[in-house]
Amino acid sequence: MSSVEFTHFMQQCRQSVDQALNTLLPTAPKAGQTLIDAMSYSLFNGGKRVRPILAYASALAVGESSAQAGDGLHAVASALEAVHAYSLVHDDLPAMDDDDLRRGKATCHIAYDEATAILAGDALQTFAFDVISQAESLNAETRLQLVSTLAKASGAEGMVLGQSIDLNAVDQTLSLPELEMMHAHKTGALIRASVQMGAIATEQASPEQLKALDTYASAIGLAFQVQDDILDVVADTATLGKPQGSDQNSNKPTYVSLLGLEAAQEKADNLHQKALEALSTFDARADHLRSLSAYIVQRGH
Ligand code: IPE
Ligand code: IPE
Ligand code: MG
Ligand code: MG
Ligand code: MG
Repeated sequence: MSSVEFTHFMQQCRQSVDQALNTLLPTAPKAGQTLIDAMSYSLFNGGKRVRPILAYASALAVGESSAQAGDGLHAVASALEAVHAYSLVHDDLPAMDDDDLRRGKATCHIAYDEATAILAGDALQTFAFDVISQAESLNAETRLQLVSTLAKASGAEGMVLGQSIDLNAVDQTLSLPELEMMHAHKTGALIRASVQMGAIATEQASPEQLKALDTYASAIGLAFQVQDDILDVVADTATLGKPQGSDQNSNKPTYVSLLGLEAAQEKADNLHQKALEALSTFDARADHLRSLSAYIVQRGH
């Protein structure tokens, strides 16, 4: 698989999910316009769309014939990005990371106000579950499985748990297993869900395939946050589109603070290798997943 093909695939996925989100996002009565604007602002301000791309690539790996798959897969991609966008809107709030820059633009609570940002996050989250439940091209049982997978990955056993551990860890020294547990939930859970849900939406994934994909996703999920921690130190604000040094400034334990930069980079590379090994039984149709793993540890923002 050439890098040109992979770049083209990522562009196609971004287009697909943007189009689906545009179609699915509710239109509001006049009184709700600010809320919808804030949701839209947070969805269309330049995210990399890694989670939707993972879902599309995972579907391809288990035999979906093209990235231009059915409405079910687009619904999954949209739901994942909506939950991710909500998590960032809340992550940036003054009570959490208190950041004023996201994707090179004012964060939602700065562009609007705090209350609107809280509500936009709330509404993005429920929007995600609504979108899946209404994906009529999928069997009811599949939709239920998707809702449950996304709910578990997002909530008190997943991302929200990770965020809670993260906030409680300010000024603390975590052990490596504790840090890993935080990362696995904060970021890993939604990435795992992205890979599982893409495969589930094809309604043709075997239990063995789902298991191997989950091993892959656990590795890249962790690698993603390791790289995010590295970038907080080595990148600059203009490239990142979010304030460089945010973790250091709020004294957050990160992979870099615990292991140092070099060992953190080594960790990310090891996780990339582990992810590739997990895909050993897959054929060339999993090549986009392989490229995504490399992209995640090599990305510059
Ligand atoms: C940033 O996620 C927050 C983490 C979970 C580490 P992304 O790096 O995927 O953010 P966008 O969507 O591309 O801005
Ligand atoms: C956020 O982690 C993870 C989420 C669940 C949103 P960070 O706080 O490290 O994300 P950034 O660096 O602000 O994007
Ligand atoms: Mg945070
Ligand atoms: Mg943050
Ligand atoms: Mg970060």
